Amino acid sequence: MNKIKAIKGTYDILPEDSVTWQEIERVVRDKMEIYMYSEIRTPIFEETGLFARSIGDDTDIVGKEMYTFRDMGNRSLTLRPELTASVVRSFIEHSLDQKGLPQKLWYMGPLFRQERPQKGRQRQFHQFGVEAIGNSSPTDDVEVMMLFNDIVGILGLKNVKFTINSLGGPKSRKIYTGKLVEFLEEIQVKLCEDCKRRKDTNPLRVLDCKVPGCREVVHNSEKLPRTVDFLNPEDEYHYETVKEYLDLESVPYKEDPFLVRGLDYYTGTIFEVNYEGLGAQSAIMGGGRYDNLMKQLGGSDLPAVGFACGIERLILALRAAGTAPEKKELKVYIVNTQQKSNKAFKYLNVLRRNKISAVMGSLERSMKAQMRAAWKYKAKYALIIEPDENMVSARDMTKSEQKLMSFDEFLNLFREINTHKQ
Ligand code: HAM
Repeated sequence: MNKIKAIKGTYDILPEDSVTWQEIERVVRDKMEIYMYSEIRTPIFEETGLFARSIGDDTDIVGKEMYTFRDMGNRSLTLRPELTASVVRSFIEHSLDQKGLPQKLWYMGPLFRQERPQKGRQRQFHQFGVEAIGNSSPTDDVEVMMLFNDIVGILGLKNVKFTINSLGGPKSRKIYTGKLVEFLEEIQVKLCEDCKRRKDTNPLRVLDCKVPGCREVVHNSEKLPRTVDFLNPEDEYHYETVKEYLDLESVPYKEDPFLVRGLDYYTGTIFEVNYEGLGAQSAIMGGGRYDNLMKQLGGSDLPAVGFACGIERLILALRAAGTAPEKKELKVYIVNTQQKSNKAFKYLNVLRRNKISAVMGSLERSMKAQMRAAWKYKAKYALIIEPDENMVSARDMTKSEQKLMSFDEFLNLFREINTHKQ
């Protein structure tokens, strides 16, 4: 009989990997608390229209990557391909603006996109991210970037470099788009079939085309207009201030006047972080300002900025940098050799109550097999229970030294280690 396997593009997070996940989740939670962001959890599926209206009909995500299905009530539903739209939907539905502004929210969870699976690209993947809603100040753009920087810095990715650009507000964008279309018309015969269409439906998307020949024609031309040359004074002031604050805080960045994002809701500042060495899927985070989305989805006219980081890609980057958190070491492996293991069991629980990680070997296994297991666990100590009252032989596994002592002495040893650490 054929064995049932996980669906292509989805993965199990096995026990040896979950340590890395838990550490990332811990650091994310800690930092969100320091920056005073509150967690929001939204459903895994939503009405399809939510994503079509926010991400944009002509994006790859909405056009060909969504897991869309009909429920028994013949409603069209979609597994969420991203979280910004869901957060904005929830914000409007629960009138979160009435709880005071700005509202700073964070989230973590699985997302679904039907992309071609490859290294760093799954069909079910995970993000953590934030949405800072209700403040148009450039400080919020920089705050969310610094929050990301802080999180990955603690995990071991130092000095990640942001690529930034500004798309400008609706007015600047309209003028820029006009110029872009003029340019695209000049070179239209050389565009790929999708871009020929995008030129009329959503010209900015052409800048993000992945088809090699088409991309070169567009990006190698000196005539390709730059978004930043069409910013109005207000947009320009915002963008300049963002850069000023990034400089002030020594956040590394480079400007790319042709950077666009794969989702249509952005206005103003946009940014991405690419980690070199991850191959084609090197973007570990992306985000930016989306000042019109709330209104577009029927809420109040509130500005917002946010980002999301792909956790699988972050883990690949941490592994490449050699800083991925690994399994915590076991402190004590109790070698169980006595028929009646009351003492071993009692010590096991005393150790655990004293916050010392401990496991006990199984009586069915020989002493030799249990010692091998202690090695496999990378235990700091193997503890052999002696027949004499309260006596144990403590074997320091790293030094291969064994000492006979009372169990209380052994406990004190850990207390001392812990006081020295503090
Ligand atoms: P995004 O650029 O589509 O933005 O996704 C953010 C990150 O999610 C990417 O940089 C990447 O690390 C990860 N990611 C995306 N697709 C996949 C995939 N198929 N497999 C593995 N990782 C993936 C957004 O989702 C926006 N909602 C970000 C945002 C928040 N903008 C404002 N607020």
